[in-house]
Order: sequence, then structure tokens, then C-alpha cells
Amino acid sequence: MIRIDLPRFGRFAAWRDAARQLAGNRIAAGDVTWADDDSPAELFGADPLPPPGPHPVAATRDFLSLAQTVASHSDPERWALLYAALIRLQDDRGFIANPADPLTDRLSRMGKSVRRDIHKMHAFVRFHELPGNGPRRSFGAWFEPEHLILEAGAPFFARRFADMDWLIATPEGIARFDGTITYAPPAPRPDFPADASHTLWQTYFANIFNPARIKTDAMRSEMPRKYWKNLPETALIPEMLADAPRRVQAMREAGASEAPAFAARVTARIRQLPDNSPPETLEAARDQAGRCTRCDLCHAATQTVWGKGDPAAPLMIVGEAPGDQEDLQGRPFVGPAGQLLHRTMDQAGLDPARIWMTNAVKHFKFTPRGKRRIHQTPNAGEVRQCRWWLDLERRLVQPKLTLAMGATAAFALTGDRSPLTPRRGTLETTLDGGPVLITWHPSLILRLDPRQAQDAQAQFAADLTQAARLLAA
Ligand code: URA
Repeated sequence: MIRIDLPRFGRFAAWRDAARQLAGNRIAAGDVTWADDDSPAELFGADPLPPPGPHPVAATRDFLSLAQTVASHSDPERWALLYAALIRLQDDRGFIANPADPLTDRLSRMGKSVRRDIHKMHAFVRFHELPGNGPRRSFGAWFEPEHLILEAGAPFFARRFADMDWLIATPEGIARFDGTITYAPPAPRPDFPADASHTLWQTYFANIFNPARIKTDAMRSEMPRKYWKNLPETALIPEMLADAPRRVQAMREAGASEAPAFAARVTARIRQLPDNSPPETLEAARDQAGRCTRCDLCHAATQTVWGKGDPAAPLMIVGEAPGDQEDLQGRPFVGPAGQLLHRTMDQAGLDPARIWMTNAVKHFKFTPRGKRRIHQTPNAGEVRQCRWWLDLERRLVQPKLTLAMGATAAFALTGDRSPLTPRRGTLETTLDGGPVLITWHPSLILRLDPRQAQDAQAQFAADLTQAARLLAA
């Protein structure tokens, strides 16, 4: 019998290396015991690994990914199960894809349980602000997962809270982040100070609680009771449940609230009949596009946002699709991205009175989040449907040069969906045979961090200046 001890952290990598070496010698699963208790006394019990064996060892990518997840399960048998699976894979590559196989079934249920636990960790870790006078704010949290998921779950917080120092303490160990994550053995549960962020959680929770939709079983399944003791907002639950009937009665008495103003405009528009005769003028085209139902975006958007500017412009600027402001006002480029575009046009000496500005897609695409409407990028099908209008607009305006801002516009105009980075600043040919200069979309620049934004803005301005030069030539 060979005994392998695995360290407390970096266990999966250690298991993978040892398992590869053992499998290279075709050592049977029953001849290996695995331990991941890192107490010194246990360490003495470990056997040296045999030298690399003569047999090749193959493992599919899917198996390795499942194994990495299962490695965080709390079942002490997991290492032996994974090694048994690795040995079986050498003669039977397909068994791991067969859900009826008992070993596959067990491993995939273990993987599912770990993934669910990681999901709960991401949702239910609550940070407390810690006192300190360093340059970055610092936070701590206590969390009690079901499995050993600290290493698997912590990188999410490093991405999300990259600009603060934090630690997450669990019974398994502690993850600390100060730019990089380090792990340490467990310590007694820290006594974190109460802080303002908890009042914020409570306010948020009280606001999203809908007394007319109480489903206590669903609430418990989403937020199992065992997490409650560490969640500031759960203190409110008994009181809110008790108060729910009174609030529902008050809602009934208050009656239905008015639909937002834009809803009436959407209904009126959708009730208009389509007209499919080919329009001869931009005005007629605009009128017809106002009733467009070529794709589903028309159902939620307030109105079609048609192009604006000089109907005989030598330059056509094409963006992606209207945003929230454009949708409400019915004109393109009036929101934050439009303001950046106008400032940059000014710098580049481009006169808006001699430009036709439009979008590849004429309806706002969004997903509602509370009262906000969050922009979404139109998909290829929506872009293709809306190309009918863009082609029409281009036939009527006949620009000498087109500026495509962003990947959606570049795709709509050229049919090419390849990444923008190597194409930016270059001239390509539109599907209708004209020159098109490719550049960034201004809303991308608004989303970048300040240093990257500065570089992208300089490139955007250079592209607009190049457009002005081409028009003057
Ligand atoms: N972004 C676009 O692509 N177009 C607009 O009209 C506004 C923002």
C-alpha cells in the first residue's frame, strides 16, 4: 500500500502530479491511500512516490475539470474516487461521459454540490470594513461553506474587489488578498466590527422584499438557514414576514400604479400597420422604420431611432444601437457616448452639419434591472435584420466615406465579425462597395480604466482626424 499525503492548499495540483506518476506505473487504485491531513505526525506516514512509470497517462480535459471541482468536496474518499476514475480512463475513455455509470454519477453529483457551494459563497460572503490607515480600504468576512472551497471560491472576490484588501476566514483556512491571494491555516473565528455596509445590506434587502410574493420554501432554498447567522439582512426576515399581510392589504387598497409614459408610446407604435413599399426618401424611410417589426427588439424599445444629420453628407458615422437616452429622445448619440463623440469630432475638425449619424441597429436592446434598463449588445440576427434599414439609408445618403464605430457597426457594414483590435485605424470595404474606416466605439472608451481610456481616446481622435483628411483629399 502506498500512502500519499496532500498539502492543505494546492491540493488538486499535488493530487494530479502524484496521480499521474502512480498511473504511469499502473498502480491499482486499491493499492493507494490518500490523506490530506497536514499534521506533522501524519506527514511522517507518507511514502515516496515511485519513479516515473513506463505507461503513458491520458486524461480528457472534461475529466480534469471535473476532478478539479471534486477536489474541493469534503468527502475524504474523493481522492481515491478520482484516482480510480483516472485508472479506468486509461482503458475506457468513454465511461466518464456516461451518466448511468455509478462512478461518473457519484463524481458528477459531488461536482454539482461543490459548484452550488461556491455559488452560495459568492452570494453570501458579507464583508465588514476593518480599521486601518493603509492606502487601500480593508475588509474581512467569516464564511462557513459545506465543502473545502476556499481556494476555488476566493479568486472571484479578487476579480470583483481588486481595489481593496480583504480576507475571508473559514473553518478550512484563511484567504488574504492585497493584490495577490495567499492562503493560511485556519484561526479562531475573528470578531469583526459591525459597520455601515451592513445597514446598506439591510436597506437593500428590505427594498427588494416583495410582501405579495412570499414563498418561504423558495426563500429557504435560495438562502439556506445555515448561512443566516452570518448574514446581516436575515435579522429582518421574521419582522418582514409578520408585517407582510398588512403591506399586501395596503397595496390592494392603493390600486394599480400608472404604467410609465413610454409604455403608451410602445403600444401605440405596435398597433400601427406595417408598410412594406420601398421608400424613396429619407423621410419616408424614417416613417416606415418607425413601424418596423423585423425583429423582437421593437417590442420593448420606446421607438425606432433613425439617423440624423445632412441627407447628402459625405461622411456617414455608424454606431451600434441607441442607448437609454437615445431611446427616450428618439435621436442617436445624445447620451454620454454621443457627447464624447461630439467632443472628439470637434477636436478633429469634423462638422456635424455635414455628417449623417446612425446606428447599425435602430432599436434599444436592454435588460431591465429594477428601474434601470441595462444596455445589451444586439446579436448577429438582429444586426442582419436591421441591415435592411442601414442599406436603405446608405442608398439614399450615398456617403463618400463611412466611419464604423465598434465591432457591431464593423460587422453590419462589412459582414466581417473578426476582432476589432487589428482592424482599428484601417480602411476596409463595405458590403455595398464603399470605403469604411474602422474605429473604437466611444462607449468602450467610457468603460475602460483611466490609463487604457487615455490611449484608446487618442486612437479614436486620430481616426476621426484621418477621416477628416480623407474627406478633404
Ligand atoms: N451608442 C451607439 O452606438 N449609438 C447611439 O446612438 C448611442 C450610443
